[in-house]
Amino acid sequence: MATGNNNQRGFWASRLGFVLAASGSAIGLGNVWKFPYITGENGGGAFVLIYLLCIAAVGLPIMLAEFTLGRKTNLNPVGAFQALKPGSPWVGIGFMGVAAGFLILSFYGVVGGWTIAYVVKSITRSALNFQSPAEAGDFFSTFIGNTEEILFYHALFMAICMVIVIKGVHSGIERACDILMPTLFVILLGLMIRSLTLPGAMEGVRFYLYPDFSKLSPGVVLVALGQAFFSLSLGMGAMLTYGSYLSERENLTSCAVYVVIFDTMIALLVGMVIFPAVFAMGLEPAEGPSLVFSVLPTVFSSMPMGGVVAVIFFALLVIAALTSGISLLEVVVAYFIDQKGWPRQKAVLFASLVIFAFGVPSGLSFGAMKDVTFMDMTFFDWVDNIASNYLLPLGGMLMAVFVGWVWGTRAAHEEIEKHETRFHWADQWSFLIRFVTPVAVMLVFLAHFF
Ligand code: TRP
Repeated sequence: MATGNNNQRGFWASRLGFVLAASGSAIGLGNVWKFPYITGENGGGAFVLIYLLCIAAVGLPIMLAEFTLGRKTNLNPVGAFQALKPGSPWVGIGFMGVAAGFLILSFYGVVGGWTIAYVVKSITRSALNFQSPAEAGDFFSTFIGNTEEILFYHALFMAICMVIVIKGVHSGIERACDILMPTLFVILLGLMIRSLTLPGAMEGVRFYLYPDFSKLSPGVVLVALGQAFFSLSLGMGAMLTYGSYLSERENLTSCAVYVVIFDTMIALLVGMVIFPAVFAMGLEPAEGPSLVFSVLPTVFSSMPMGGVVAVIFFALLVIAALTSGISLLEVVVAYFIDQKGWPRQKAVLFASLVIFAFGVPSGLSFGAMKDVTFMDMTFFDWVDNIASNYLLPLGGMLMAVFVGWVWGTRAAHEEIEKHETRFHWADQWSFLIRFVTPVAVMLVFLAHFF
């Protein structure tokens, strides 16, 4: 029988630790790698605006719902629904979440590997001194087409995640986040100034901030919604799992607000680094997954102390990716610990190995398996698309329905107001979680399919 008091679980040491760890989960490749490239592919400013709407109307309410479910039950996603509605189909949300975590980490680990490689290549200076973004782009394509190198760095990324997650929540995950997230922010500010002062940068600012609504379609809105879930680590119980390690004294609402604001600030800031540079250097914004890997090394090549900045930047990106990767792994691991009674070590070893193996075809999707496509999408694209644009929004919508209508907003309020915490926006949140969030997700799905 699953219980929340399993001593294999562990707790956060402080509220700041929790907020930083949850931000560490949220802030990652989704902000730095994915957000700019899909913004570029989906038309710029209008996409950004829809994305922000999704964050506010859907992301924030679900973040609070996940924290609340987790802290109430002290369990993993499967156990949490099992505890609140035993034997009901709602438990399926938990299983879907574990599956989504599995799928996302399988391709996330590949991109995490790319970032480790760029630390190494910046130290050896082979990924520096580019004359043009085209040159940097070619260098990147050659690299991601190289099977041995890709597999090596992918395995390395997964191995580091594994070691941190074996150490457990407090000593491993929390400590890693405390200093590193603020440092990333400062570096990005510096890079933004550099980008904005390149000649021709304003064209990029315009693309990024000026909404051209003719570029919108239901498909674009679905991608924005999927990105809101992906970037905030929502819809699969990662935040639920993190909330399950949180003490009852903490204020869930302010934690949720902080995490959402930090994550969104970082994503917006990265856009202000990338797009001015893209336009200043005459690149195409719709370049795809290679966008930041061709733009940033070119920026580094052209700036004073660029080599040092490149190393620090990619090192921080590796860490941001790791703090996200471990949150994905932790969901799968918490499932085996709580539901199957496995020791942590066995759960971590098993989960990491299987996820790595499943990720191999994603790693090869830019080289050896580039031409293995189905409906024009590679294996990598399929896994990303299914998990990010379908499983996460669906999971999030079902969680909203569960909290709003099945478990009930009253029970949620009680949990949020423990230890005399006042929940000032109780009515607004209940309205959002019962009506706005589920209907918005449903409409986006319907509009996309019909
Ligand atoms: N949010 C992370 C990022 O932006 C990725 C991530 C970590 C994630 N945990 C998640 C995405 C859980 C979805 C669900 O890089």
